[in-house]
Parts: sequence; C-alpha cells; structure tokens
Amino acid sequence: HIVPVIISGGAGSRLWPLSREAHPKPFIELPDGGTLIGRTYKRAAQLNGVNTVVTVTNRDHLFLTADAYEASTAPERANTFLLEPFGRDTAAAVALATVHVAESHGEDTLLLILPADHLIDDEGAFEEAVQEAEKFASQQRITTFGIKPKGPETGFGYIECHEHDVQRFVEKPDLETAKQYVEGGNFFWNSGMFMFPAGLMRNSMQELCPEVLSAAEAAYQSSKISTSTLRTTHEVGSEAFSAVPSISFDYAVMEKAANVACVALDCGWSDIGSWAALSEVHPSDERGNRVSGETIFHEVENCFVQAEDRLVGLVGVSDLLVVDTPDALLVAHKDNAQDVKHLFQRLRSEG
Ligand code: GDD
Ligand code: MG
Repeated sequence: HIVPVIISGGAGSRLWPLSREAHPKPFIELPDGGTLIGRTYKRAAQLNGVNTVVTVTNRDHLFLTADAYEASTAPERANTFLLEPFGRDTAAAVALATVHVAESHGEDTLLLILPADHLIDDEGAFEEAVQEAEKFASQQRITTFGIKPKGPETGFGYIECHEHDVQRFVEKPDLETAKQYVEGGNFFWNSGMFMFPAGLMRNSMQELCPEVLSAAEAAYQSSKISTSTLRTTHEVGSEAFSAVPSISFDYAVMEKAANVACVALDCGWSDIGSWAALSEVHPSDERGNRVSGETIFHEVENCFVQAEDRLVGLVGVSDLLVVDTPDALLVAHKDNAQDVKHLFQRLRSEG
C-alpha cells in the first residue's frame, strides 16, 4: 500500500516578505482561505487505500501544520510527524521517512513523497497519475511525476523521458541548457513528487548517498517518540541530526539513480514559485489587475496588489507587484519577480 509523505520546510525566498522563516511558503493563505500544505494533506488523505499520512517538518511547525490539516476538511487519518530540529534539506527528510516507513510498514510499502509548496487544480488527474505511478513503483522503480514545461525555468529539475523510461534527471540547469531542453521536447519539469518502495530507496541511498542514510538512520533511531490520540511524533535530536549532510534529494539521489520511471502529470500544477505565480491564483479584472485585500486604483494596468491591514492606492502604474504586510512593503516589477530572493538573501546575511 501507499504511505504519503509530506515534506515541508525551507523559507521560500522569492515570496518575501510573506514567506519568512516563521511563515514559510506552505502556509501562505490562498484566496479561499486554505493553504498549500492543507490542500496537499487533503489530496493525500483522500487517496484510495491511504490510512496513514507521514509529515516531515521542523518541530517549530508542528502545531501550525496540525492546524492547517485540521482546517483542510480532509477525512481523518492516522498522522505521524517526523520532527526535525533544523532543516538539512530534502535528502535528509526523505531518508528519515524511508527508514520510518520501512520499519513501521515494511520494505515493500510505497512512499509517495509530496512537497508542500505547490498547487494542483485537477485532483482527479492527480489521483490517476498516482495510480499509474503505483504500477512502476511496485516493479521496484523510483517513479517521478513530470510536468509539461511552460518555459525554460531554471528553478526546476528536468526529466528526459522516452515512453516511461527516464534517460536523465538534471536538477536546476542553467538558462541555456534549460532552453535546449524545452526546445528538444522529451523533457518534463520535475514536480518534486516521487513514488518508490521503502526498501528500494534504502538500498539506493545506501549506494548513492550512504552518509545521508546512515546519519539519518541513527538520528531516527535515537528520536523521542510520543503518541496521543491525535498523532504520533518522532522528535529528532539536534546532535544526531547535525551529522546529516545537507543536500537535496534531487542532487543526492535523482541525478544518479538508475531505472527511474516517469508518469506525466497534467493537473494544473503550479509551483507558486514567485509573486507572479501566486498572483495568478487571484482572478484578474478587465485591465489585468489582480488584488487581495482593500485597494483603490486610477489608470492602473496589469498589477498585483496584496494588502493586509491597510488600504493600498496605485495611480498611473503598470506591471507592478505590491505586497504590503505590517512590517515590510515590497514593490517590484513583474519581470523581476524571481529577483525578490536577493532581498531575502541580503536581509538574512545581514541578520
Ligand atoms: N522536512 C523538510 N526539511 N522539508 C524541506 C526541507 C527540509 O530541510 N527543505 C525543503 N523542504 C520541502 C519544501 O518545503 C518543499 O515542500 C519541498 O521540500 C521541496 O523543497 P524546495 O526547497 O521547495 O525545492 P525546490 O522548489 O527548490 O526544488 C524542488 O522542487 C521543484 C518543483 O517545485 C526540486 O525537486 C526540483 O527538481 C523541482 O522541479
Ligand atoms: Mg519548491
């Protein structure tokens, strides 16, 4: 059977000022009041035959996450949380989940890794893709979910695929390479979702990134377990976890793994990687403006405004992103939506 594993962490630097360390991208509020992580949980909990959902996240986000799950109106499932003291990137998170599922559910149990930071419109298409992936994963193949590329984005992994066989997996290529891939056809964006048997992943990590696996395994074994009627938590200790190398699953495993399969996922997937992408979940008026909160416009076109506590007025401007929060205001040109991360990085390095 399948155990969905939601991985959530990291700071979403391109969504500054909304997405800071205390309030990362999975918790950003959507126009209908939901969150990306709440939606992810509901999609997972609703899958056929799923009775347990595992979440790997920072221990400081346990209650925020549990609240988002509660609010998602998903059917009730057994919840297990693997709680990290700090982020060690996604290879560590997947390793913890792999060891946990192998021990608690058996080596043949399929993990369905789900990032908590993207939107899926068509849940039926998602469920079909999961069913299709189950066939490949049950045949001992690491299975990826490929998205038809919309352009040469450099923030994604690329999967070269013939039929269902993956020729290569390239994480975050440079712009020139990404352009070639998109023109060449046969390439998908990596959605960040994966499916594989626990035993297969343990063996793959043993071969491809043994330091990650052994340190994560030791950290998992020494974790503090608490069980209540609401959930089971495994709190991973700081000392043990600091021994785990920090590297993403895409670099540590996917770029090197053999016998990888891919199923196409055509489900209105959006990574919400920037304000430009987030603005698109809001309806546009006849002049191309999209807003959230209270705004007043004169001669304004193609702008996005997110207002929180105050009225925001714009006059005679176009193609701007304006995000007002109680303690920071962002004004950016839409073409530079990806560059917002530079502000975030500078603020972080300047403390
Ligand atoms: N538990 C945990 N711990 N989760 C983490 C950590 C961590 O240290 N770091 C990141 N995550 C979570 C994020 O919250 C997100 O849900 C998921 O893991 C992926 O991490 P990102 O940091 O968002 O990765 P990315 O967006 O740069 O790239 C990945 O996703 C792309 C699609 O959105 C890669 O898989 C790319 O290949 C892919 O195209
Ligand atoms: Mg991401």
